[in-house]
Amino acid sequence: MNHTHKEVLASEVTHSNLSHYEQAVERFSWKEIESHFTWYDTGKVNMAYEAIDRHVAEGLGDKTALLYSDSSREEAVTFAQMKEQSDKFGNVLRKYGIGKGDRVFIFMPRSPELYVSLLGTLKVGAVVGPLFEAFMETAVKDRLEDSGAVALITTPALLPRVKREELPLLKHLILVGEDIPEGEGLLNYQKEMEQASTDLQIEWLDREDGMIMHYTSGSTGKPKGVYHVQNAMIQHYYTGKVVLDLREDDVYWCTADPGWVTGTSYGIFAPWLNGVTNVIRGGRFSPQDWYNTLAKNKVTVWYSAPTAFRMLMGAGSDMISEYDLSHLRHVLSVGEPLNPEVVRWGHKAYGQRIHDTWWMTETGGQLICNYPGMAIKPGSMGRPIPGVKAAILDDQGREVPPNTMGNLAIQTPWPSMMRQIWNNPAKYEEYFRIPGWYISGDSAYMDEEGYFWFQGRIDDVINSSGERIGPFEVESKLVEHPAVAEAGVIGKPDVTRGEIIKAFISLREGYEPSQELKDDIYRFVKEGLSAHAAPREIEFKDKLPKTRSGKIMRRVLKAWELDLPTGDLSTIED
Ligand code: WTA
Repeated sequence: MNHTHKEVLASEVTHSNLSHYEQAVERFSWKEIESHFTWYDTGKVNMAYEAIDRHVAEGLGDKTALLYSDSSREEAVTFAQMKEQSDKFGNVLRKYGIGKGDRVFIFMPRSPELYVSLLGTLKVGAVVGPLFEAFMETAVKDRLEDSGAVALITTPALLPRVKREELPLLKHLILVGEDIPEGEGLLNYQKEMEQASTDLQIEWLDREDGMIMHYTSGSTGKPKGVYHVQNAMIQHYYTGKVVLDLREDDVYWCTADPGWVTGTSYGIFAPWLNGVTNVIRGGRFSPQDWYNTLAKNKVTVWYSAPTAFRMLMGAGSDMISEYDLSHLRHVLSVGEPLNPEVVRWGHKAYGQRIHDTWWMTETGGQLICNYPGMAIKPGSMGRPIPGVKAAILDDQGREVPPNTMGNLAIQTPWPSMMRQIWNNPAKYEEYFRIPGWYISGDSAYMDEEGYFWFQGRIDDVINSSGERIGPFEVESKLVEHPAVAEAGVIGKPDVTRGEIIKAFISLREGYEPSQELKDDIYRFVKEGLSAHAAPREIEFKDKLPKTRSGKIMRRVLKAWELDLPTGDLSTIED
C-alpha cells in the first residue's frame, strides 16, 4: 500500500486520489489474502497458531508481542514466551477435559494472564467468551447461563459476582492473583501453570469451527451471543494491513478492553496476525496516563474511540506538548459517530487526521473505513474496504439513490461475518431478512462518491461512550427495584458520551419521587448490572406511554425528551 495520506491531509476533501481506491477494489481477491495463512497449504486452522506460534517458527520469537502496563505492573512478553505460556494454559484446560467446542469465559481486568489464557483457550479449540470486568451479578449470570460455559477464568475479587449455584454447567473456575480461596471447582492459575507442560498439541480446526463469542445488546430481549468462527482471521489480518496500516516495526495500541469486540478483533487478533508489538494499558482513562502510554512506548498506530478523543479534546491541547508523540503515524476511531470537529482538532493537536472506521460486533471486523490512500471527508465513516460491498436499502430491500437515508446493509458474505446468534436462530435470521444482505440496524446515506454517512440507529439501541446498551436489559433491572412499577429507557444526546441513559419511571404505590430514590435506583442498576448501564438521568412519571399490548413506547419517551412531535399514537393504550 502506498502512503498518500500525508498529502491528502493538506485539504479536507480531495477527489484526486479516488482512483487509488477504484484500483484497489478492482484488483482485490480474498483468495490472495488467504494464501498468507499456513492453513492455505496445510488445511490446519487455529487462530492462536497464526497469531503467535507461526511468528516463533519464522524466527521472530524474541520480538516483543505484548507491552503490558498498569499502575502497579509493567511487563514485556515476547512471542516465544507468549507461545510457551499459552501452550501451558492449553494443557491446564486439557487436564480438566476441556476441549474443542466447549465455551470458556474470561472475566477479569486486563493483565498478561488474560491474553495468555485467551490464546491457550483457542489452542485447545474451545470457544472463548471475554466479559468486561465491570459486569455485575446479573450481567455475568445471563451470559454464562446462555452460553453454557464450562469454565471461567476470573480473579478472587470478582468471584462473588459469579452465582455458581445457579450455573450448574460451570464446573471450573480458574483464579488469577493472590490469596486464592480453596473449594470445589476452584483452581489456582499460578499453581496449575507451574505444573503444566510446555508441550502442547494444538487442536487443528476447520475454518468454520467456533472461535469467539461476544454478547451484545439489541432493543429487545436479553443480550445475544454473537458467535464467530476461525475464518474471521482473514478479515482481521487483512484490515490490520490496509486499515490499521500495520508494518513490521510498528508499536500498536488499541485502547479497547477485550470484553468488547474491538478489544479482541483489533486488540489481539489483527496486531498479532500481523506480527506487531501490541501495547496494552490496564486501568482507567486519564489524559496524562494515555499520553504517557503513547510517549513511553513510542506508539506508532493508535486505535481508540470518539468519546476518548472528545475527553482528550476537553483536557486541552496544552498538555500534549509535555509528551513526545512524534512516533505516531496513524490514528483511528470506532464505536460511535466521529464528529468533524474532533477530526479537525486531532489534526491540529497530533498532526494526524483521525480515521473513522465503521463495523459492529456482528460483522467481526472493519467494513466501512477511512484508511491511508483515501481522501477523508470529516464526518463520513468512509468507504467499504476492497472486497466488501455496502449499500443503502429501503425497507423492501431496494437500493436507494445517493444522498437518501435508509438501511445500511452489507452484501453477504465477508470472512468475519458472524455465523450464529447463540441459541437463537430466529434472531440470526432477522439480520439477513433481505436475501443477499446483512441489515445492520444503522441508518445512513451514501453520497455520489460512495462515502457513507451515519445517521442513527433504527432500533432503540443506546450507544453511550461507544458501548452498546440494550434498553430492555436496563428496564428489566429497573423493575426489580422495589419502588419501580414500570420503566422505559432511552438514549439522551450528550456532548461527551454521545448518548447517556435516561430512564422514565413510574413508581409503585407508597413511593414518592425524591433525589434519594433516584440515587438509590441508580446504585441498584450499577451494582446489579454494570456502571455503564446505569441511568445517569431519571425522570418520574405517573404513567408511561404504552401500546395496547402493554409495550412501553420508547419512541414517545424520546419525543418527549427531545421536544419532538410524538408521531402516530394510534396504538397507544389510552
Ligand atoms: C455504532 C463496535 C458511527 C453503530 C465495533 C453500530 C458507529 C454500533 C461507528 C456497533 C462509526 C460503530 N460511526 N457509529 N464509525 N462504529 N458505530 O457492536 O451504531 O459495540 O451499529 O461494535 O456502533 O457497536 P458494537
